[in-house]
Amino acid sequence: MKVTVFGSGYVGLVTGACLAEVGNKVMCVDVDPAKIDLLNGGGVPIYEPGLTEMVKRNREAGRLKFTTDAKTGVDFGQIQFIAVGTPPDEDGSADLQYVLAVAQSIAEHMNDFKIVVDKSTVPVGTGGKVAARIRETLAKRGADIEFDVVSNPEFLKEGAAIGDFMKPDRIVIGTENPRSIEAMHELYGPFNRNHERLLFMDIRSAELTKYAANSMLATKISFMNELSNIAEVLGADIEKVRIGIGSDPRIGFQFIYPGCGYGGSCFPKDVQALEKTALGVGYEPQLLHAVEAVNNRQKELVFSKISDYFDGQLEGKTIALWGLAFKPNTDDMRAASSRTLMEALWEAGARVQAFDPVAHEEAQRLYGQRDDLAICAHADEALEGADVLAVVTEWIEFRSPDFAEIREKLKFPAIFDGRNIYDPKVVNNAGLVHYSIGRRPSQPA
Ligand SMILES: NC(=O)c1ccc[n+]([C@@H]2O[C@H](COP(=O)([O-])OP(=O)(O)OC[C@H]3O[C@@H](n4cnc5c(N)ncnc54)[C@H](O)[C@@H]3O)[C@@H](O)[C@H]2O)c1
Repeated sequence: MKVTVFGSGYVGLVTGACLAEVGNKVMCVDVDPAKIDLLNGGGVPIYEPGLTEMVKRNREAGRLKFTTDAKTGVDFGQIQFIAVGTPPDEDGSADLQYVLAVAQSIAEHMNDFKIVVDKSTVPVGTGGKVAARIRETLAKRGADIEFDVVSNPEFLKEGAAIGDFMKPDRIVIGTENPRSIEAMHELYGPFNRNHERLLFMDIRSAELTKYAANSMLATKISFMNELSNIAEVLGADIEKVRIGIGSDPRIGFQFIYPGCGYGGSCFPKDVQALEKTALGVGYEPQLLHAVEAVNNRQKELVFSKISDYFDGQLEGKTIALWGLAFKPNTDDMRAASSRTLMEALWEAGARVQAFDPVAHEEAQRLYGQRDDLAICAHADEALEGADVLAVVTEWIEFRSPDFAEIREKLKFPAIFDGRNIYDPKVVNNAGLVHYSIGRRPSQPA
């Protein structure tokens, strides 16, 4: 099939590459000329395991093309995906300007039937707004051309995006138009061989399903974080509690890790946007407010612990920081807990020596050159001359460090483990105090 994808970010590029991988011809459109130049030159603007090779393979096979020209994109595919950003507006609701700009471009250039598939995460009712924008723009042109707007929310996880797209748990499609149902069946057939994964529903339910999924996952995390703070005050160990509840199959082990808060481009903005949608229709979403509030407080926790350790005297201190990305296997730092921590440390007069296996360039792009930030090439380098170590991203390579070496390099014997990745006893055996989430600090014998 011939497919156009508007937006070549984490979702658009993975969608384009995976659709090309199974034999479709795909045209990716982005308004960012630097991104398109990089892609046309064989580069990939984001870190996502397996993506560079997949883009290269399909580009060389002539199945995957990139352009900044909207008209070229609209002319190309009968199916037109919208995969542009929906960042939070000033009040927290989803900003639809990019989605509607794409709808407008499609309507300005289309000459035959198009299926416009919204893959961006958008509030309930956006399908109607996209259709209205297309209708109005066509009317201005005096053009009478058929189209259908479909909702197809994306559930991929950054860091495992290709696997998620190629072998999805489910493919949610919001449309009641038989022509679009048939086209979506055909397009997703290669990803649907093992068993039926396509779930057809009305467009509003499809739009809400995406927010429901992310809000449910965010709720699990905030619930566990709330409980971890209670456990710590009570002198219980949240890791024991986690195993105690996770073994109940009704609860399960997934997404109940206590930590220093969720970040990324999705959970924070999607919980907020759903809150705004609910308020907009006169419903007070008490649980969603709490999920967000608990998370915001949790993101400040590592800073509070470090500040307490130094009795609030952080001026002139140097903190080694392991992890900048909001989670492992990505370079995405949107709403990352590392940012809350670094910004609070700077505010208090401390310096940060940070290391991340892939997000160093993103950190440099975000913060530029500043005296109170050194982005290091190795984890060890971040420890040189540092007072204490904080770990906020659970990268696999941080899991089993040489604690004796850490003890030797740090001026004060303390590790602040924001993801509970270390065994307190092992840390203590090296003479280090282990500060973690949801349990009291563990001291060397
Ligand atoms: N990142 C994720 O893990 C993830 C997962 C599921 C859903 N989503 C949703 O998917 C959407 C996209 O997210 P993302 O992380 O890929 O965003 P992103 O910021 O990485 O990419 C968006 C891209 O759209 C481009 N763009 C903006 N306006 C455009 C236009 N008019 N025409 C063409 N391109 C345009 C931007 O230049 C950018 O490259 C969001 O709604 C997000 O909530 C994201």
